[in-house]
Parts: sequence; structure tokens; C-alpha cells
Amino acid sequence: MNLREAVREDLPGINEIYNEAVRNTTANWSCAERSLREAGEWFAQYGAPNRPLIVAEEDARVVGYACLSAFREKDAYWPVAENSVYVHLDYRGRGIGTRLMERVIALGREAGLRVITAWVDADNDESIVFHERLGFERVGIMRNVGEKFGQKLSVVILDLDLTKGGHDDRYARRGGGAR
Ligand SMILES: CC(C)(COP(=O)(O)OP(=O)(O)OC[C@H]1O[C@@H](n2cnc3c(N)ncnc32)[C@H](O)[C@@H]1OP(=O)(O)O)[C@@H](O)C(=O)NCCC(=O)NCCS
Repeated sequence: MNLREAVREDLPGINEIYNEAVRNTTANWSCAERSLREAGEWFAQYGAPNRPLIVAEEDARVVGYACLSAFREKDAYWPVAENSVYVHLDYRGRGIGTRLMERVIALGREAGLRVITAWVDADNDESIVFHERLGFERVGIMRNVGEKFGQKLSVVILDLDLTKGGHDDRYARRGGGAR
């Protein structure tokens, strides 16, 4: 399995994985599939150091991807990005999601981000456990803020503090972080 920056030619593979989640799950809160044209517009937001889009490639196809997106438009949110991660159904449970996330976390830290936030459907236990294993902590829940397939949805908010751990441990350098 090879990890690399996504290119436009990856969009059909990325979109197939994305649309499977839209059609069949509440892991993704879109209710309508995304066209290739819309995927092209989505793709345009990536490429800057703090906005990586990484694909996992195996058997000459895209088998997963992870990205860091703007959390909100207001400038003061510059230290935070929101992550997304998807692995093709046939390739799950083999560590691909973990490797994708480790790569975007490292890139986010290098780019000077301080926090990565993940907003996960409250019923998506696999994804919550997956993020916690990567060091994310639950910081809250918003109840009944969504509806899909006639079902009310809640979202669990997790975040990863990039200022702890890794090679850029500003808290450790200050001797504990309580300031
Ligand atoms: C969540 C997702 C990205 C994980 O990718 P993956 O490649 O299958 O994950 P990994 O193989 O790296 O698993 C890492 C850990 O996550 C947890 N995990 C992953 N899949 C799990 C499952 N089906 N059930 C329970 N725990 C699971 C486990 O703790 C696992 O560690 P282990 O294998 O040592 O038990 C993948 O399941 C996926 O694409 N799901 C659908 C889309 C989605 O929910 N994306 C996140 C939206 S916020």
C-alpha cells in the first residue's frame, strides 16, 4: 500500500468511496451522491500545507483517503482543521485508515496547526474508537442535530491537540503546559 498526495485523476476512485458512504451509511451526512463535477470543486480546496489530501493506493486503485479541511471560514480559526477519512469497504481493518490519519496528522503538525477536530456520527462506534486510538479525545456531543434515512442523528465532537506529543511538543518545552 502506497500513500501519496491526491491528484485530480484520483477523483473517480475517491468519489466511489465517498458515494458508497452517502448511499448506505450515516457516517456521511450528505443525503445526495456527489457528481464528479462537484468532486472537482471539493478537490480545489486542498493542496496548501495545512490542507493535505492523501490517498492510499493498492492494486492500482484508490482504496482510501484522508484530508484536512477548513473548520469554519472565520480567520481566527486558522489553528484548527477538520479531518475526514474513508477506506473502501473491501480494504477496512488492515491499518490503512490509521496510516492515512498518521500522515495527515504529521502534515498538519508540520504546517503549524494546533488542533484537528473530528465530527463523528454518534452511532459510528467504529470511527469513534478509531479516532480515540489515534489520540483524539471526546469533547462534546450535539444531540439530534441531523436527520437521514428518517432517523435523528447526533454528532460526537473529538479533537486532537497537536501541541502535545510529537516532535513539536511546545507544552513539554514549557515544562508541563499550565500557563
Ligand atoms: C473508520 C475507518 C476510516 C477506519 O479505517 P480502517 O482502515 O478500517 O481502520 P484500521 O484498520 O486502521 O483500524 C484501526 C482501529 O480502528 C478501530 N476500528 C476500525 N474498524 C473497526 C470496526 N469495524 N469495529 C470496531 N473498531 C474498528 C479498531 O480499534 C482498529 O484497531 P485494531 O484493528 O487494532 O482493532 C473505516 O472503517 C471507514 O472508512 N469507515 C466508513 C467511513 C467513516 O466512518 N469515516 C469516518 C467518518 S468521521
